[in-house]
Amino acid sequence: MATTMQEAWNARARADAVFYVESQHAADRDGFFARGEERAVLFLDPVLSRMFGDVSTLHALEIGCGLGRFSRALARRFGGVTAVDVSDEMIARARAANGAFPLIRFRATDGETVPLPTQSVDFAFSYEVFQHMPSHRVIEANLREVGRVLRHGGAALIHVRTGGPWLRALYVLANLIPSSAHAVLKRLRGKRALTSDPTWRGAPPLSRGQIERMCGAAGLRIVELLPDPTHAPGTRAFVVLTPAEA
Ligand SMILES: C[S@@+](CC[C@H](N)C(=O)[O-])C[C@H]1O[C@@H](n2cnc3c(N)ncnc32)[C@H](O)[C@@H]1O
Repeated sequence: MATTMQEAWNARARADAVFYVESQHAADRDGFFARGEERAVLFLDPVLSRMFGDVSTLHALEIGCGLGRFSRALARRFGGVTAVDVSDEMIARARAANGAFPLIRFRATDGETVPLPTQSVDFAFSYEVFQHMPSHRVIEANLREVGRVLRHGGAALIHVRTGGPWLRALYVLANLIPSSAHAVLKRLRGKRALTSDPTWRGAPPLSRGQIERMCGAAGLRIVELLPDPTHAPGTRAFVVLTPAEA
């Protein structure tokens, strides 16, 4: 039976939560949390100032908060933050690590829905999460939730994996090979076995056309598609979105 998103991410949280959120900072917890603020300055602040100006009275949602390094950055800027994650083990660790940030409400989810009322959020944010979602159906479900919870005048900044037809074909092929075979190959390459299944590898990268179609179906309008300065060029993008009718 396929491992569920929750089982897989709970196993990663128990094994080494910092490593599976950001493998480069496994040995440096302070650096790991500092990196959240550094990246917020790099790619979040420019979008917030273009889309809103002052956000100090607004409510932000983070999808896939992990240990909460970006939830902290959001709490330094917004009036309230709801931070959700499919892994209740990750959420427990995030709560323990962020006691100094009482503005953040951490919630575990089913990985497809957001436990907030319709049109209750001003800003939705997600970084290094949609790239791990195991199918385009799960990505579409999450985008629909973003479209549902955003208020008129709200905006979202969603980080997605992108790629051309060859890379997309490679992912389709990789997803045909059983996770047990991937685990053997990973071990041979000195990689961790918990990076062997589709909840780590993720669905095939998205083309621009697929992003436009999925966002349109979710009731969202693309304001900008921005390059990602934190990954190899062309492999990720930030999608800035607003409700389609706004
Ligand atoms: C690589 S970590 C990134 C965490 C955080 N965004 C950061 O950059 O610090 C991916 C996180 O997304 C969560 N996640 C994966 N799939 C998810 C889904 N469908 N819905 C919500 N959270 C998800 C995982 O449990 C994990 O905490």
